[in-house]
Amino acid sequence: MTSLKVATPTHSQVLGVSGVRGEVVVPNDELVGPIDSSDEWIQQRTGIVTRRRALPETTLKDLCMGAARAALDAASVEASEIDVVILSSVTHLEQTPALATTLAFELGAAPAAAFDISAACAGYCYAIGMADTMVRSGQAQKVLVIGAERMSDFVDPTDRTISFLLGDGAGAAVIGVSDTPKIGPTVWGSDGSHARAIYQTHSWQTFMDGSDTSWPTLRQEGPTVFKWAAFEIPRVAARAIEAAGLTPEDIDVFIPHQANMRIIDQMIKHLGLRPDVVVGRDIAETGNTSAASIPLATERLFREGQVHGGQVALQIGFGAGLAYAAQVFILPNQNTANEKGNNNGTE
Ligand SMILES: CC(C)(COP(=O)(O)OP(=O)(O)OC[C@H]1O[C@@H](n2cnc3c(N)ncnc32)[C@H](O)[C@@H]1OP(=O)(O)O)[C@@H](O)C(=O)NCCC(=O)NCCS
Repeated sequence: MTSLKVATPTHSQVLGVSGVRGEVVVPNDELVGPIDSSDEWIQQRTGIVTRRRALPETTLKDLCMGAARAALDAASVEASEIDVVILSSVTHLEQTPALATTLAFELGAAPAAAFDISAACAGYCYAIGMADTMVRSGQAQKVLVIGAERMSDFVDPTDRTISFLLGDGAGAAVIGVSDTPKIGPTVWGSDGSHARAIYQTHSWQTFMDGSDTSWPTLRQEGPTVFKWAAFEIPRVAARAIEAAGLTPEDIDVFIPHQANMRIIDQMIKHLGLRPDVVVGRDIAETGNTSAASIPLATERLFREGQVHGGQVALQIGFGAGLAYAAQVFILPNQNTANEKGNNNGTE
């Protein structure tokens, strides 16, 4: 019988991670008036001190391009080497075409396969899982993953459920071939019974037929999300550690979705991570940037010299859907020469 001559399955690795934030630093005091809140309340309940928002003229595409170039640079990879571009975003304002195809073209990665996915705050880890599978199967040699959001387009300044949490930014990673396994299996899933826990106020249909012509914005049932994230999600992270053949003591670096500092602390407690584990806590200054938050937290850890290549990292994304995904991976020995410039802001 004739067999097909196909690429040999191999291992995968993260080659570089970076990102850019919205240029404007927005402190709590600038938002509290219309929601009858205070800087103290927001800091205590969420850990957020400022969030980063994009200038009016900075588009989602601009943020994506900045993050993609920074990640390619960190990975020392040329855009022309990229076989697939995956963008995770819930804030691209055009139904079609996917923004990823434009990004691939403008970066110089065409004719790379390119598509967008929608998995909200879990989207970056969903996309890393897909990239890992593509590389291991031989379907691609190098994949560019981008998680990017311009959340401020869906913010209602009078909403006290979620808007004050949200920031703008983009993070990206390059995944490539490896001689040894450096990305563990992705543990992922969803629970659509809680689809209304984080939601858009009204549908585009309602907007279109004129029954509500206000611009749709985001809302959430904060306490429902909090309980789910703080108590259920650590079990997903524990399964990802086990799937990688490791124990919680093996984890050097923990990079959770930046939803709430209290959720991060609960997760560390429930997971039983080592007291000296390095934790991504970018939320204090950047806010919750949904799909961008994990690579941005990773970018900060590298820029501040808190982590180095070869360490064992656990990352986990969770949010609207409800959807979640986690994986363990080895931090890359990435190029740090341009990291200061990658911050793209006023710090
Ligand atoms: C949103 C969140 C910060 C609210 O904090 P909370 O402690 O759960 O707040 P609650 O809704 O239980 O309300 C507690 C009190 O704070 C008040 N409150 C609610 N929102 C407030 C706000 N933005 N500012 C000031 N006070 C607020 C409530 O009115 C209530 O007052 P009361 O005790 O006098 O009745 C919190 O639920 C949270 O972070 N949830 C997870 C959100 C998340 O991570 N989402 C993204 C996932 S991707």
